[in-house]
Amino acid sequence: MNRTVEVLPSGAAVTERALILVLNHIEAAIADHDQFRFVLAGGSTPKALYEQLAHQDLPWSKIQVFWGDERYVPHTDPQSNMGMATQAWLSHVPIPAENLHPMPTHATDPAQAALAYEQHLRDFFGCPPGEFPAFDLILLGLGDDGHTASLFPETAALEVCDRLITVGEKSGQPRLTFTIPLINQAHAVLLLVTGENKQSALDQIFAETGNPRAYPARFIHPQGSLTWLLDAAAGQKLPMPEKL
Ligand code: 6PG
Repeated sequence: MNRTVEVLPSGAAVTERALILVLNHIEAAIADHDQFRFVLAGGSTPKALYEQLAHQDLPWSKIQVFWGDERYVPHTDPQSNMGMATQAWLSHVPIPAENLHPMPTHATDPAQAALAYEQHLRDFFGCPPGEFPAFDLILLGLGDDGHTASLFPETAALEVCDRLITVGEKSGQPRLTFTIPLINQAHAVLLLVTGENKQSALDQIFAETGNPRAYPARFIHPQGSLTWLLDAAAGQKLPMPEKL
């Protein structure tokens, strides 16, 4: 894993830089294997990036979109990560419907939905049990408690190492989430973090030593590249990026 940390002047600058990096990953993946397997983050931070992607002229038939986590609500619910990305980006571009792979949230039991999405990923990649598929780019955010995807501090989801997808939990609300080993199989992981409220979590995550169960983003060490894009409000107190 090679880790890069960039601190940019503003949230808008983070979005602008993220767009360039995503477009570079799209070009490289399609040149290499004629497809781009992209995993989206939820929350609010990536929305501006998705809005920028809505204005791009891309080889949409070669772009496959997945979700790294999802609140266990209908996709029409305002909390839905699939709903947010659809409204900001995917409903505005001619990407084939079969290229969208939302996490299923209609089953009564989220654990069954997790198994179903795992099987869907295995079928898509032709990946046998016991192996982990490698996505081209996984986009992640960071909570102010140090969570990423729906891998929350001190939860059972952090222990799951033999599945692709598991059930996370935030304040009693179930969420579907990529597991740590699935995220770490990625060719590239890009984390977008903005806002002063993320400073203390970042301090803990970039500290020489720390407890990853308390700050789960410390578990993220992908096979490929790891890039953090921070705005000044989030990253201003960190040591200079080159020292991280
Ligand atoms: C979610 C996200 C979650 C998010 C962080 C940061 O479903 O909420 O996947 O991990 O990335 O909570 O959220 P903000 O971008 O809203 O700060």
